[in-house]
Amino acid sequence: VPIADLLRRPAGIIGSANSAGHPDIPLPADLYRPQRENSHGIEFGERAALDRLTAAITAQRQAEPDAVASSTTDEANAAVAAARRGFKAWNATPAGRRAEILDKAADMLEQRRAHLIALLQGEGGKTLDDALSEVREATDFCRYYAALGRKLFGGSETMPGPTGESNVLALRGRGTFVAISPWNFPLAIFLGQVTAALMAGNAVVAKPAEQTPRIATEAIRLLHEAGVPASALHLVQGDGAVGAALVAHPDIAGVVFTGSTDVARSINRTLAAKDGPIVPLIAETGGINAMIVDATALPEQVADDVVTSAFRSAGQRCSALRLLFVQDDVADRMIEMIAGAARELKIGDPSDLSTHVGPVIDAEAKQRLDAHIALMKRNARVHFEGRAPAGNFVAPHIFELSHAGQLTEEVFGPILHVVRYRAERLADVLAAIEATGFGLTLGIHSRIEDTVDDVIDRLAVGNIYVNRNMIGAVVGVQPFGGSGLSGTGPKAGGPHYLARFATEQTVTINT
Ligand code: SER
Repeated sequence: VPIADLLRRPAGIIGSANSAGHPDIPLPADLYRPQRENSHGIEFGERAALDRLTAAITAQRQAEPDAVASSTTDEANAAVAAARRGFKAWNATPAGRRAEILDKAADMLEQRRAHLIALLQGEGGKTLDDALSEVREATDFCRYYAALGRKLFGGSETMPGPTGESNVLALRGRGTFVAISPWNFPLAIFLGQVTAALMAGNAVVAKPAEQTPRIATEAIRLLHEAGVPASALHLVQGDGAVGAALVAHPDIAGVVFTGSTDVARSINRTLAAKDGPIVPLIAETGGINAMIVDATALPEQVADDVVTSAFRSAGQRCSALRLLFVQDDVADRMIEMIAGAARELKIGDPSDLSTHVGPVIDAEAKQRLDAHIALMKRNARVHFEGRAPAGNFVAPHIFELSHAGQLTEEVFGPILHVVRYRAERLADVLAAIEATGFGLTLGIHSRIEDTVDDVIDRLAVGNIYVNRNMIGAVVGVQPFGGSGLSGTGPKAGGPHYLARFATEQTVTINT
């Protein structure tokens, strides 16, 4: 199949998968490694095939930026209507069968990883390490939700009751879920949302970020091929206006959204203003994520973990470190080591194995980040300024602020803000973190157990990492998601996620 054909997808709703094959790329046996290991075992011949495909996708995306057309409002409405019709049969499909389909999808993700990696690199700008981790995470979501779904949806729970009465509680799908996902994890978050909603028995209309339509198309096609009926899973492409039309539709039963706090609020307002059933929102939003480093921390480890947390994935993770608090006694040495480690980072072509920091997602993102850098250069002390090649690249920067309040919003890129604190003023640091209103991730580097315990007790942050980096939550290991301005919960990749996509039914029978 010529790559150009493979990439040119029909616009609008994809109700039934077009299963034209995938480019015949030999799958590198070594390409799929456990998370956190790097990928340098890829053989030269396999790399060459992968590079060719990545280059073709990149070129196609540049030559035909609008090759994937946006859906119209009519198409979005038609997708909801079709999902509504598909819901009943899918919800009646035994949970064991739904789980089997997700397990099959996981196997297919592994089989097609080379193609998916090329798409993640070519369309999402991911480095090879990040692309590998992302395919792994998407696979994990499928398998984890399948296993959890068998348990939760496989039968009903018998409740206690008086003699002569039986009481059972069962979980069922709610109806049609709208899944709106971001460009920063265009495969993993996209599939995480969709597979959770499907496992719970819902029909799904998925609206991926407009920056990454090809990856989403590929993922939906894969789910259809794995066995999800076309009637139960629909893809709608486009920007926020298309998402808004879906959210406003009278026949939806739930929304799962990952993106900005502002958009989550606007979805909430739309849902609240509608007549008809009360529709729940599951939202995961951003954060002004902090790390606290005291004088007992190990400097080399701090340098490594800070650079990973702030600059890996070009800082385009919702978990990424934005605000580093360093105890003043050790601040000069710590900052110097962090800047030294940042100086070692290679910025450039994401498909080059030696690259640490790839591009940011698009020109608009670069512009926003450049404006923030310019502002910081005027108002903060510059500790490190990396150099970026031409294109949508933003080099890592380290700025020192006089107080945390200077950072008022999430800056979604490789820019680290440092604030010094005095040991006796740790309470002020915690107050500053609380004052952001966000609660997604937090890092603590300290060897004093009481300090660590106090911080954990005091701060309502969703994911706290002690003496390690603070990104890359693993499905089923570090259930992920925040509170406050960072989201509604439940945690993705955690044991309580699926139940929130379901409705509960209690049946009492007088025997
Ligand atoms: N789940 C991702 C991470 O932990 C989200 O940004 O890094």
